Amino acid sequence: MSKIITPYQNEQATKKEQVADMFNNISKTYDFLNHFMSLGIDIIWRKKAINELKKDQPKLILDVATGTGDFAFEALSILKPEKIIGVDISRGMLDIADQKIIKRHLSDKFEVKLGDSEKLPFEANGFDAVTVAYGVRNFENLEMGLADINRVLKPGGKAVVLEFSKPKGFPVKQLYNFYFNYITPGIGKLFSKDSRAYSYLPESVAAFPDGKDFVALMDKVGFKNTKCRPLAFGICSIYTGIK
Ligand SMILES: C[S@@+](CC[C@H](N)C(=O)[O-])C[C@H]1O[C@@H](n2cnc3c(N)ncnc32)[C@H](O)[C@@H]1O
Repeated sequence: MSKIITPYQNEQATKKEQVADMFNNISKTYDFLNHFMSLGIDIIWRKKAINELKKDQPKLILDVATGTGDFAFEALSILKPEKIIGVDISRGMLDIADQKIIKRHLSDKFEVKLGDSEKLPFEANGFDAVTVAYGVRNFENLEMGLADINRVLKPGGKAVVLEFSKPKGFPVKQLYNFYFNYITPGIGKLFSKDSRAYSYLPESVAAFPDGKDFVALMDKVGFKNTKCRPLAFGICSIYTGIK
């Protein structure tokens, strides 16, 4: 069995508990460091991923691992759904999302809730679309998380997953490895209260079953018409599937 990568490797707590702790620790600097470390490119990738839903015009969307809400805000602005619900296991991240919702006067359109991707607090067949950005890599049990996303989607509904992947070609692979293994942990140490969080980032990406392996998992839990679209030479990938 492959080793489970957790944020704080010496602790007894489960991956889920450690992930929630870690995001609680970094919630206040999360948005700033995200945009800073990606030089703002994360915003372009989020837009590209949400655009995968443009033709579908979903009315009710669930954003899993919503964190501070940036993927959901992007979906609100591009797709203009009736409602988005965001779930996350980190109260700290959701508190920041809540502050942004109030500041942007979006309380009637976007609501967040504490909830686990592997046991979503919703009935089956309820959502037109489910989105996840940079979340699936952190799931304790990826297959269970994907199966539950499939469960809460309406038949014909679409899942859109955005996640880091591993570029394979020279020189992007080498540059990416250098940046991710040396630069991001350094910046994280400098600006965030939790230095482990930014060494966990490259470790969790390295251990994540990306590309064809992720598509195979989506197929296994019942998604149809699954696709993987690599962005920026494979630094990130958008995965889509229909229930
Ligand atoms: C890197 S952040 C991404 C946040 C947001 N989607 C974004 O695009 O900025 C990952 C989020 O996944 C959440 N998460 C991890 N495992 C989860 C689970 N099992 N269920 C729900 N949320 C989870 C974390 O608490 C964290 O807020």
